Amino acid sequence: STQKEIKMSTETERKLGSLLKTTQESGSSGASASAFNDQQDRTSTLGLKRPDSASKLPDSLEKEKFSFALKERQEKLKATESVKALKAFREKLPAFKMKEEFLNSVSQNQVLVVSGETGCGKTTQLPQFILEEEISSLRGADCNIICTQPRRISAISVASRISAERGESIGESVGYQIRLESKRSDQTRLLFCTTGVLLRRLIEDPNLTNVSHLLVDEIHERGMNEDFLLIILRDLLPRRPDLRLILMSATINADMFSTYFGNSPTMHIPGFTFPVAELFLEDVLEKSRYNIKSSDSGNYQGSSRGRRRESESKKDDLTTLFEDIDINSHYKSYSSATRNSLEAWSGAQIDVDLVEATIEHICRLEGGGAILVFLTGWDEISKLLEKINMNNFLGDSSKFLVLPLHGSMPTVNQREIFDRPPPNKRKIVLATNIAESSITIDDVVYVVDCGKAKETSYDALNKVACLLPSWISKASAHQRRGRAGRVQAGVCYRLYPKVIYDAFPQYQLPEIIRTPLQELCLHIKSLQVGSIGSFLAKALQPPDALAVENAIELLKTIGALNDVEELTPLGRHLCTLPVDPNIGKMLLIGAIFQCVNPALTIAAALAYRSPFVLPLNRKEEADEAKRYFAGDSCSDHIALLKAYEGYRDAKRGGNEKDFCWQNFLSPVTLRMMEDMRNQFLDLLSDIGFVDKSKPNAYNQYSYDMEMISAVLCAGLYPNVVQCKRRGKRTAFYTKELGKVDIHPGSVNARVNLFSLPYLVYSEKVKTTSVYIRDSTNISDYALLMFGGNLIPSKTGEGIEMLGGYLHFSASKNILELIQRLRGEVDKLLNKK
Ligand code: CDP
Ligand code: MG
Repeated sequence: STQKEIKMSTETERKLGSLLKTTQESGSSGASASAFNDQQDRTSTLGLKRPDSASKLPDSLEKEKFSFALKERQEKLKATESVKALKAFREKLPAFKMKEEFLNSVSQNQVLVVSGETGCGKTTQLPQFILEEEISSLRGADCNIICTQPRRISAISVASRISAERGESIGESVGYQIRLESKRSDQTRLLFCTTGVLLRRLIEDPNLTNVSHLLVDEIHERGMNEDFLLIILRDLLPRRPDLRLILMSATINADMFSTYFGNSPTMHIPGFTFPVAELFLEDVLEKSRYNIKSSDSGNYQGSSRGRRRESESKKDDLTTLFEDIDINSHYKSYSSATRNSLEAWSGAQIDVDLVEATIEHICRLEGGGAILVFLTGWDEISKLLEKINMNNFLGDSSKFLVLPLHGSMPTVNQREIFDRPPPNKRKIVLATNIAESSITIDDVVYVVDCGKAKETSYDALNKVACLLPSWISKASAHQRRGRAGRVQAGVCYRLYPKVIYDAFPQYQLPEIIRTPLQELCLHIKSLQVGSIGSFLAKALQPPDALAVENAIELLKTIGALNDVEELTPLGRHLCTLPVDPNIGKMLLIGAIFQCVNPALTIAAALAYRSPFVLPLNRKEEADEAKRYFAGDSCSDHIALLKAYEGYRDAKRGGNEKDFCWQNFLSPVTLRMMEDMRNQFLDLLSDIGFVDKSKPNAYNQYSYDMEMISAVLCAGLYPNVVQCKRRGKRTAFYTKELGKVDIHPGSVNARVNLFSLPYLVYSEKVKTTSVYIRDSTNISDYALLMFGGNLIPSKTGEGIEMLGGYLHFSASKNILELIQRLRGEVDKLLNKK
């Protein structure tokens, strides 16, 4: 490692005396991992271990020494080969020309808004400029720079890039911290973290003690966390006049942010790009029509798709390629879509064949260069991946390096995405909108834009969240096109007609006004910043009052807030669990009822994603596998629990790969779930809900299916539907929406009659109808026990829940018993 190469000068050695000997020894001893630990020891001896834990005033002399050592080290690193090699690249970035102006502006203003097209060097250079400057000016010991990223994957990739540019290993002066994972040391002066991680830190440390510079990246995306953070920061700045805040945006329109921060100065980094031609769907059709005409007049030498015909003109090939997928029908239906019917089109799936045909077209007829394809999600990415990796793709699939790029991919082969592909291979990156602005692949020449992105929206009236592919904004379309043309002129293939584009909104709606807000509202309460309503009213674009009301009502229903909107002890526990409050409550109830393992597994899958994958053409078999795991439980949640347990057993026997393959499970997701389970268990132990040393005790009921469904009910309430028999089938009703359907992917989709009267579900989505996704059949006793407050009904014989929705008849004794039990559970949930 680079660290081993560094030997301190004799002068420093003298200055730092014996302390430095330790460092030098560590520098020459063994693996870099141990060197890394020794580094930590060194800094801790210097009194800088953790700024917040160093309650005794750090000795200013020690600080000075440390700053000096940091500078010395930085100078040495600059001389290493790896740093020199990347220097030229860095100096060509548009951000480099602005270095002085940027640093001046930062030192003179508390807030600065920087805009610049993606790839100009904002994320990798600006924080690095500050870092270098602080260290060179011998302020290293006091410098503590944090840069937030909306996504985990970009936090890691940027931290490792800057480390490489500095000639260090990741985790030395530059590190990262994301949920479940961090690489940092006491030496770390620049930390990349997800916005979520910083928001959690703010609960403990509302003044961001010791942070000298904070950079908030990708603010143009208007993610909920970023908008939320900006409200907090605007309040914090007067309390921390020495803190520097830098907001970074990829769109030129930075005025809104500047206004929000009292007209703070803005800075724009001009960038240079080559022209990018833009083709809409009809342009492709136009070519195709032209070609059909010319084929009539005898010029066309028609042949089947897949055959190589060097002699033919480009246009002829295009026709052949596209005729298979009947572009005429596409065009007809597309162009009949008017401005008004845009919404109706939103749900439509991407035509993977059309995308494939376009990729084929580029590969055959256009010049070299990487292709970047924008898709909406994992389903399409994997379908295309499969298609292109098939043996017969353009005669030889080995000529293509096809790389998926998806936000929640835990480990991506980072360098492969950024680097030039091996000679004779064409790089094709299949991405979601993550490649729109936070990740830049330099050698992209062709962009294929399907025009859509998966976007959540929230229907506050019906309290239903929708996650659907919908049309992107003009700003996004512009971003996507701009991904080409960084190294040479490029082409952007838009797989939708101009009329559709014209109807795109200018900007996407900020996330804060299209998502359910319960997790956010709970977070606001834990920050102790006053009432939720007045806090959110300070947002750049405040959310709908009804959405806020719904969130507060839900938090009251699950007992996280009391009647006057204060956090209950239960609410406080839920704040410490980094998941949706409902999932958090499931974990706590699982602990109380001693079935922790299933609760951990189900919570991990719900908080992350289902481990079941839907392979192309084998959906039937995949559904079958899922039903096998569910057995006769009538529960998707039990299915994923059993799948996880099967995986864990297979892993012990060393054959988890086969197991996953045979059962249509994603090993990557399962591994992530394992990590999350461990983290949840640690947190449950931290707040005193489990004793980690006694797994048998907290798992006493882990194989009791009735207990597990009761815990599910406790966690998922008020997500309940009632099953009503209609002849030989069952119909499902909810309080808000009336009749709903079971999602076809659920194990319950084929069940005609249910033995128990209710289903709890983890998610409902609105498409053509309202579907409940994963569900579990539960008894009325589970609901009596765990479902919201019991209110005696007006008739005096039953129990009403949630204003008359659920009506039970039960004997007085049973009701009394249940009341007592509920009281006990409440006490346990609210223990301090
Ligand atoms: O933040 P912004 O979009 O302005 O640019 P950046 O992420 O700082 O990237 C600047 C340059 O560094 C681009 O040309 C990227 O391709 C390159 N880069 C890289 O090679 N590897 C990374 N992990 C990140 C960026
Ligand atoms: Mg960036």
